[in-house]
Amino acid sequence: WYYLCGLCLGGVAVGIGVAGGDADAVSTSRRALRSAKIPESEFTTLPNGLKYYDITVGSGLKAVKGSRVAVHYVAKWKGITFMTSRQGLGVGGGTPYGFDIGNSERGNVLKGLDLGVEGMKVGGQRLIIVPPELAYGKKGVQEIPPNATIELDVELLSVKQNSYGTPVKIIEG
Ligand SMILES: *[C@@H]1O[C@H](CO)[C@@H](O)[C@H](O)[C@H]1NC(C)=O
Repeated sequence: WYYLCGLCLGGVAVGIGVAGGDADAVSTSRRALRSAKIPESEFTTLPNGLKYYDITVGSGLKAVKGSRVAVHYVAKWKGITFMTSRQGLGVGGGTPYGFDIGNSERGNVLKGLDLGVEGMKVGGQRLIIVPPELAYGKKGVQEIPPNATIELDVELLSVKQNSYGTPVKIIEG
């Protein structure tokens, strides 16, 4: 998973087909089951092909280009979790993943995650359907085959900075 993590999400690879026995994995898959019930027709489609559906619209700071955000995510392919920030570490679940919005051109975060989180507000939870060109492309990676559409379930935990690395006062988060 080095390539996947280095290029893209920076999270813990769960491994497709591995159920995972701990409580976290169980609650993650329950969440996934609930998420799966939203029909694709309910999603909003952006011009870049990305689709999203807000399960919860947040009420905190908005993630805009340049924001440094922390999220929890579950990444799925065909409904199977292949990577998540929620693995391990008890009930609260895992280590949040941080990145700067608008930076995916540099290849340090999955484009679909970057573009999908933009516009969310802290406290929000969003389902994102990511077309292959904003995910792992024509080649795929590891278990993810060529031209695969993937799904993300993202919670925006905090927005702490903006203007590409210029620290600003932390208002919340
Ligand atoms: C993936 O899509 C591209 C064009 O979008 C196509 O040329 C290629 O053959 C596809 N690859 C597979 C394995 O389907």
